[in-house]
Amino acid sequence: MPAKQSPTDFLAANRQRFQDELFDFLRIPSVSARSEHNADTARAAQWVAASLTRIGFQATVHPTAGHPIVLGESRNAPGAPTVLLYGHYDVQPAEPLELWETPAFEPSVRDGRIYARGSVDDKGQLFLHIKALESHVATAGRLPVNVIVLAEGEEEVGSEHLSEFVEAHAAQLACDAVIISDSAMFAPGLPSILSSLRGLAYFQIDVVGPAGDLHSGSYGGAVVNPAMALARILATFHDADGRVAIPGFYDDVRAWDAKARAAIGALPFDDEHFRDEVGAPALGGEKGYSTLERIWSRPTCEVNGLLSGYTGEGAKTVLPARAMAKVSCRLVPDQSPDRIRDLLQAHVAAVAPRGVTATVRSLHGGRPWRAEPSGPFFEAARDALAQAFGREPVVTGEGGSIPVVGDFERILKVPVLLIGFGLPGENAHAPNEWISVENFEKGMDAMAAMYGRLAR
Ligand code: BES
Ligand code: MN
Ligand code: MN
Repeated sequence: MPAKQSPTDFLAANRQRFQDELFDFLRIPSVSARSEHNADTARAAQWVAASLTRIGFQATVHPTAGHPIVLGESRNAPGAPTVLLYGHYDVQPAEPLELWETPAFEPSVRDGRIYARGSVDDKGQLFLHIKALESHVATAGRLPVNVIVLAEGEEEVGSEHLSEFVEAHAAQLACDAVIISDSAMFAPGLPSILSSLRGLAYFQIDVVGPAGDLHSGSYGGAVVNPAMALARILATFHDADGRVAIPGFYDDVRAWDAKARAAIGALPFDDEHFRDEVGAPALGGEKGYSTLERIWSRPTCEVNGLLSGYTGEGAKTVLPARAMAKVSCRLVPDQSPDRIRDLLQAHVAAVAPRGVTATVRSLHGGRPWRAEPSGPFFEAARDALAQAFGREPVVTGEGGSIPVVGDFERILKVPVLLIGFGLPGENAHAPNEWISVENFEKGMDAMAAMYGRLAR
């Protein structure tokens, strides 16, 4: 009788099939922000559910007022821990399409990278876990641990319906730890486990002046210009030191202590390399903090979009009737999106010039999260990553947000392990998004090893 195949051997023997399957997943344009893609988004949910059913999960697709939530359960490991795997099957819009070297929803491999919208954020990372689980089912006939899979289709638009789902299904989602792969490694070859995420409070600011667009010669100088008024409002958001100047903004910010700052300082990071990677002429931010501290430990207030007046070819002399800005604040513990909304609304009301009305509408929010990883789940992940990548993982922070993480901690009261397999420069949310083939494969190996270790 041949020796029983190990999960690692199974993964090695099936690499081509896994890539083909991932490509099928990536071909589904599950763009959550766009209602014309609702049928595609629903199809992606079904695709995830089917991939779970095939490996023995009980999988159901729960409709919500927005996009469906996929819930899979495999409870065939009596006495072993229960882990909850979270991921999202929705993706960001692919625009601007003309900047993609190959089409966003036609995956292709170039230079050891899989290019497609969602390749790294988050379809590829969710999928690699499903294949790690499959490697156990295929070789041992069952999973070594009990697994709940929760996959949502609204992460990229603020996870609006997920917290209520987690609240309502808290008993069914009871587990010993949550595992998420929806972030990046700190550097190539250097596996990473996250200890923080920033939160988010997202707004639209509308500034309205005259009843309609006006001739800028006949009226300009006598009627307040909404575009200029908006510019003046936005200019009050920061002081000369790069600090957010909205009164009360920092009230709830818990400063990182000297030990945490020293840990950041010890990571291999080079400002000049980072500057070169983003292609900006210089870096800038809040005075008194390093680049990584600015991104991981400090809150921000950023303009994400601006709209007003004439932006077409040539010149048009117009005094626009209105102006709009999309503005979002990244938050750190213990800031809350609701409090930041109140502060921003009060501030804009106070600084808006006479002659226009300015309104601030909240679009969505998510809480920040920070926790020092420790305990048996962290140790299993660390050892599995060290085994697959040949290097001990580093503990890092992140500037991005995964709104549900705070909910998991608050509602399920269990540790959340964030293990990312992306890489710097991966173009998440941008044209030419990619995941490295090596990370995709080592990620499967590492996660298969982690699930195996968790049984012991
Ligand atoms: N995977 C990201 C979160 C992330 C970003 C982790 C950067 C690590 C590094 C997630 O899909 C995302 O894009 N989140 C949004 C949340 C928002 C739409 C509520 C974000 O951070 O902008
Ligand atoms: Mn993501
Ligand atoms: Mn994203």
